[in-house]
Amino acid sequence: MTIQKSMKGQRVVVLGGSGFLGSHLCERVLGDGAVRVVSVDNYITGNADNVAHLRGRPGFEELRQDITEGLSVDGPVDYVFNMASPASPIDYAKLPLETLRVGSVGTENGLKLAEAKGAVFLQASTSEVYGDPLVHPQREDYWGNVNPIGPRACYDEAKRYAEALTMVYGRSRGVKTRIVRIFNTYGPRMRLNDGRVVPAFVGQALRGEDFTVFGDGTQTRSFCYARDLIDGIVRLALSDEMEPVNIGNPREMTMIQFAEAVRAAAGGGGKIVHKPLPKDDPKQRQPDITRARQLLGWEPRVPLEEGLRETIAWFRSVAARGSTP
Ligand SMILES: NC(=O)c1ccc[n+]([C@@H]2O[C@H](COP(=O)([O-])OP(=O)(O)OC[C@H]3O[C@@H](n4cnc5c(N)ncnc54)[C@H](O)[C@@H]3O)[C@@H](O)[C@H]2O)c1
Repeated sequence: MTIQKSMKGQRVVVLGGSGFLGSHLCERVLGDGAVRVVSVDNYITGNADNVAHLRGRPGFEELRQDITEGLSVDGPVDYVFNMASPASPIDYAKLPLETLRVGSVGTENGLKLAEAKGAVFLQASTSEVYGDPLVHPQREDYWGNVNPIGPRACYDEAKRYAEALTMVYGRSRGVKTRIVRIFNTYGPRMRLNDGRVVPAFVGQALRGEDFTVFGDGTQTRSFCYARDLIDGIVRLALSDEMEPVNIGNPREMTMIQFAEAVRAAAGGGGKIVHKPLPKDDPKQRQPDITRARQLLGWEPRVPLEEGLRETIAWFRSVAARGSTP
């Protein structure tokens, strides 16, 4: 197989294509000239509206399928991106079995599809495979500090299993596999109530409410804008790198600093109020992106202030239309 330089002319399947990141990926590869982009989704946490603007574009198709029940896509396929999984702590707490199943059975169905079609398979993994990390910043060769029976285990362990499975299909069955470890990403099409900190703070700022910070607010995160993240994912898919690659923004900040950044970008919001820290909440999170820089020539380009402005503008436009994302 020749390594492609872009998605031009490619036939692409995006599992979880109606989710937050999946919909941005569909849009990006269509924009790059992919001739067929099939979004497969059961809408368990996604929203069909996320791809409404793509309907009618030549080559774009939607399939309603639960990928844990089977996965069938006709015709040739060059790339399978597996973005399907509940991803926010609120979602996977509500859907623990679905989360374990999509990470295990669903991922294997995606790998089998890629194997049958001779396609590249890219697995969306997560910084959560590092758990509450004892190494900082997190490099890909760190194996993590994960509680296998805690409340986040359904997600963290599903993703760790999915990585192991992907490597086995790559090593033993010759599938061209890629693994991206995604760190916190934000942008338009997040759900306001998905429990993640970006929509939570933006919603509070727009409603003029207090910012809810868990714990003392000194725990850190680093936030990558969706456009940057998707660019990293596409570059990884087009590379021949089988081992996991971190994609995220290394600019690390405390939750207090982040609340202040949202306040500044939105021009609103009340005081900071503290709530108890959830169990197993990681204390710090920052990607080491040396591999992404060296292997993919990738690094984030969108400053937080600009990403927040675009995200807030999107939430405002949705509110103005009277719908709830
Ligand atoms: N957003 C982030 O910051 C982040 C961070 C790390 C990893 N990730 C990973 O990226 C991927 C996308 O995350 P997201 O934030 O877009 O979440 P999302 O919930 O918006 O998207 C996931 C999509 O997968 C679909 N899905 C779930 N189970 C399915 C099934 N059994 N069959 C078919 N479709 C199914 C959902 O309906 C949804 O459309 C996930 O795998 C997530 O674990 C995201």
